[in-house]
Amino acid sequence: MHYPVVATDLLQWRRQQLERGGQPSELDWLLDLEGGLPWQKQQQLRLYPEEPVALAVPLSRLAELWQQYLQQHTPLQYLVGRCPWRDLDIKVEPGALIPRQETELLVDLAQGLIGPQWANPPMRWADLGTGSGCLALALARSWPNSLGWAVDQSPQALALAKRNLSTETGVQLRQGSWWAPLHDCLGQLDLVVSNPPYIPTEIWRDLEPQVRDHEPELALHGGSDGLDAIRAITAGAAMALAPGGWLLIEHHHDQSAAVLELLAAGGLEQREAHQDLEGVKRFASGRRQAAPT
Ligand SMILES: C[S@@+](CC[C@H](N)C(=O)[O-])C[C@H]1O[C@@H](n2cnc3c(N)ncnc32)[C@H](O)[C@@H]1O
Repeated sequence: MHYPVVATDLLQWRRQQLERGGQPSELDWLLDLEGGLPWQKQQQLRLYPEEPVALAVPLSRLAELWQQYLQQHTPLQYLVGRCPWRDLDIKVEPGALIPRQETELLVDLAQGLIGPQWANPPMRWADLGTGSGCLALALARSWPNSLGWAVDQSPQALALAKRNLSTETGVQLRQGSWWAPLHDCLGQLDLVVSNPPYIPTEIWRDLEPQVRDHEPELALHGGSDGLDAIRAITAGAAMALAPGGWLLIEHHHDQSAAVLELLAAGGLEQREAHQDLEGVKRFASGRRQAAPT
């Protein structure tokens, strides 16, 4: 169903909504994702003001969502139920973290560590704290014949991950804490990625309401120094990885040195910090010693 509106009327509606508050880029995101009007078409509104454009939902629906966003600080991604992430369209809902742009890099880093082909298929990987399942989906698509395990403690997150991973027959979902649900594949994992909760308590308390009041604490809060989850993951890594297997973790902007130490304490080698697109060390990797040849 399409809802036609003349470009100039849409521009006037947009101005009215922005007078109520919010940022133009956020309203344009809503127009794109829920209104079905891609950014490119939005650019043409001023060029062809008398042309009709077709929206996927009525303007009243978009105004309602915008109002909810402004009044309750509900993230737009939860309101529309979707989030573009890498080349994927990830379903999102309250109860699971909204995938973040920086986490997209974990997939590129994993591809850099492992390479496009796995010499001895099937490659076995796990995603610890899978949330929406975004990383698991990207890994499954990167290595189509691999076997994957997507772990989360939250049943709500796993229910969402199940929907996002419904096409991926090689991925199993497991509920429980970090390595515990992987008891039957310990020592066999060639790659483990994790974007665990890593925000220290004091910072978590001061997060903007849009995040703190709407996204799950379990997904964000990493204890007093933010490292509780990373301690648990690094401590079990050498037991869980296959010889030569890699662990790759996302962390807070000031945790690089601490995480590298935890990787060392966990017995991993070839430890390395990796930067995000702004040059900040936000990721770390380490490897279990390869078997002697
Ligand atoms: C930062 S979120 C990451 C979600 C998703 N991987 C992403 O990148 O968008 C961390 C995830 O870890 C999960 N989690 C927290 N504690 C856990 C635990 N002890 N065992 C397994 N998963 C846990 C949370 O439920 C949440 O889904």
